Amino acid sequence: MKIVAFNGSPRGRKSNTDRILLPFLEGARESGAETEVIYLKDKKIEYCLGCFTCWTKTPGVCVHKKDDMPELLENIRQADVVVYATPLYIFTVSGLMKDFMDRHIPLALPFIVKRGDQYIHPMRHEEAWPKRMVLISNCGFPERHHFSALVETFRCFTSGPDSDLVATILCTCGELLGQPALGESVRWYTEAARRAGCEVVEQGRVTPETQAVLDRPLVEDPAVYSRMANAYWNSVVARPEDEAELRESGGGARLPPPTSRDTMRDIVAGMALIFDPQAAGDPSTGTGQALQAVIQFDVSPSTGLRTGGGEPGQYYLHIAGGKCAAYEGNHPAPTLTIHTPAEVWLAISRGELDGAQAMMQGQYSVEGDLGLLIRFNQLFPTAKGE
Ligand SMILES: Cc1cc2nc3c(=O)[nH]c(=O)nc-3n(C[C@H](O)[C@H](O)[C@H](O)COP(=O)(O)O)c2cc1C
Repeated sequence: MKIVAFNGSPRGRKSNTDRILLPFLEGARESGAETEVIYLKDKKIEYCLGCFTCWTKTPGVCVHKKDDMPELLENIRQADVVVYATPLYIFTVSGLMKDFMDRHIPLALPFIVKRGDQYIHPMRHEEAWPKRMVLISNCGFPERHHFSALVETFRCFTSGPDSDLVATILCTCGELLGQPALGESVRWYTEAARRAGCEVVEQGRVTPETQAVLDRPLVEDPAVYSRMANAYWNSVVARPEDEAELRESGGGARLPPPTSRDTMRDIVAGMALIFDPQAAGDPSTGTGQALQAVIQFDVSPSTGLRTGGGEPGQYYLHIAGGKCAAYEGNHPAPTLTIHTPAEVWLAISRGELDGAQAMMQGQYSVEGDLGLLIRFNQLFPTAKGE
């Protein structure tokens, strides 16, 4: 069985779409299929001119002769299963994917004939059809209804006798797929995508059990997801008031969003992302006095008892007005200071070590407002997919 997948994200190999598509294809290969991924962003695809030359003067051949579409249409003709993988853009496929789909027109004949209870265009090369189709998408919002127009598009696109939509994988909160720091927390989803790939090859379609997992959001509570998303945007949106905030926050250098869970720099940056303003008494939520605090991390190198020093140094979290930002440097007046070897706090943050017990055993020490430390679980709730 040959599976050809078209990735329509302008982000190509760095896309969230790829993070679902690749495990799906991996599963398909494990079950014996031959697979190929084509990144539309790397291809020259002119948009359809609507001239119908491919139906009239040069049947089956488009007027755009110098782009990559002829080879891509041949890829489709040769495939048993075609995967359309696209981010959700304005409730539907990306522009790249739409141009590509519009250019499928030479594959069909112009005539309108009745098949079953509907009128369709028959396919030009009858021997190459029917085909199985797969839709893979992800979107930025947490609710599934954002996919409704896309689902309807593909229901119609595959409703004729020549195609059968055998799998639909739609992932809400899709931006979380690309966060390296959350790799483990979203593995249950990519694992289900891999299973779906196996099932399409072995059973012809996705089982209801796997589909049920694929229909689950990466984060159950939309409020938690929106907080994570907004914290991320807050950390990357350029604002003139950033300068003032920096001065007020002690002059450290703002930490970029985390790229792993292996360094203290990333762990502290990640704490700012998962910060819950409600737990800090965000005044905008009417939950009382907003917490104002600075949490300083004084991170010493690995003690040698464990491996992995994880970037020792000075980092701090500045909490004010329902926001939390992470910095590198020494704050002059921290509310709470945590003196810890890097590997101890890394182990706590991975859930391998109990924070309270580690403190009582002297594995790390604190100065200042211990009450703040006790609130850590509420202030920095961990996002779990399962
Ligand atoms: C132009 C544009 C339009 C978008 N429209 C939507 C939308 O209608 N609904 C939604 O939930 N997310 C929307 N998003 C967010 C993307 O679906 C989201 O960022 C996704 O994770 C991108 O996937 P990718 O990394 O595979 O390209 C849009 C993003 C862009 C850039």
